[in-house]
Amino acid sequence: MPRYRADLFAVVPSSGRFEAARNLPDARCQEFGQGIAALGDDNVPYPANTDRGFAMVRTVTDFVFATCLPDMEPALKREVARTRPELRFAYSRPGLVTFKSDRAVTPEDVTGSAFARVWGRSIGPARDPADAAHQLAYVGANRVHVFARDPEGVVDLESWREAIASATGIPAGSALPGELVADVIVAPGEPAWLGLHRHGSGGAAEPGGAIAVEVPAEAPSRAYAKIEEAIAWGTLPVEAGQVALEIGAAPGGAVLALARRGVTVWGVDTGDLAPAVLAQPNVHHLQIKVGALRWEQLPARIDWLLVDVNLAPQVALHEIARLMPKLRPTLRGAVFTLKLNDWSFVDELPALGDRIIALGFASVRFKHLPSNRREVCAIARS
Ligand SMILES: C[S@@+](CC[C@H](N)C(=O)[O-])C[C@H]1O[C@@H](n2cnc3c(N)ncnc32)[C@H](O)[C@@H]1O
Repeated sequence: MPRYRADLFAVVPSSGRFEAARNLPDARCQEFGQGIAALGDDNVPYPANTDRGFAMVRTVTDFVFATCLPDMEPALKREVARTRPELRFAYSRPGLVTFKSDRAVTPEDVTGSAFARVWGRSIGPARDPADAAHQLAYVGANRVHVFARDPEGVVDLESWREAIASATGIPAGSALPGELVADVIVAPGEPAWLGLHRHGSGGAAEPGGAIAVEVPAEAPSRAYAKIEEAIAWGTLPVEAGQVALEIGAAPGGAVLALARRGVTVWGVDTGDLAPAVLAQPNVHHLQIKVGALRWEQLPARIDWLLVDVNLAPQVALHEIARLMPKLRPTLRGAVFTLKLNDWSFVDELPALGDRIIALGFASVRFKHLPSNRREVCAIARS
């Protein structure tokens, strides 16, 4: 059955005039949208009569777009097939996937995957900066985010930024909650892809879903950025004077990040911590396997638990379950880095989430952080 949407023009019953829907205030567009939601049969005239007036209608197929780390498309598609079965895979390039929807897709569409960096309503391709500026001129965006489809690739973003800014006047920069963001996803030698998302809880505030972290030169591993991104994304109240325990701590990127925040960190790892990490006065190293760790070796109070160990997630969680009676009374939350050994792991995320909750946490959320590779972060709160 074809579906119809008055996304071109709508007659406002009060004025009786045709108005471009995009020129109407949001509230009235939505009201009108509800008015035509009843048009569900094949015999809709064009323009159609509705209980709120007339609507110029057309058949529509809406699309969702999602960006992700290049090579993580299979994880994203697999998770969307589970969480949003009504969406059908449409198109994919490294770092970008689109899905077809039989229903209208709005910029507020809630993300269907922890692997998506930006998720929203797809507009489609733009062959060059002038075309992008033309297409974005009337979408009503408060912000424009121009970013590379592959964050590690080299691509000229400036020509797109300049053309769009001078033609539309839409400002760039961090989106504020509630703002409508036009996404311009650029790849060398290809058309850009355009989309729209509303920045709200969970939506991307920075271009491409980036999270700004300054990694100091002495950081011995990428885990410095990972824990800072987890703290920022999860808005974790990590404060000086608190105590953290990290299982799988060497060479000490995350330990260094927390120590620099004034947190006392206990790192458990058979491997060595880097000298710059061990030199921090508030760092303790227990150079043993997690299986050999005894409760008595731990301090009385632990606020944060980090788990970043090269063990299968089920094995790592089994070890943590043994420690939880000791940790639970004072623990505020935990950050798990779970290794993605194969794509079927994506199907196990709900069961792993249940397992984490069963450890004694009140909530858990998964997120593929900007610095994650073949792994996913789980943030649990007590
Ligand atoms: C990805 S690295 C951890 C990186 C670290 N979080 C950082 O910030 O630099 C994984 C670590 O798990 C450790 N590991 C693996 N099996 C372990 C076990 N059974 N007990 C303790 N540590 C283990 C490895 O020695 C390795 O250092």
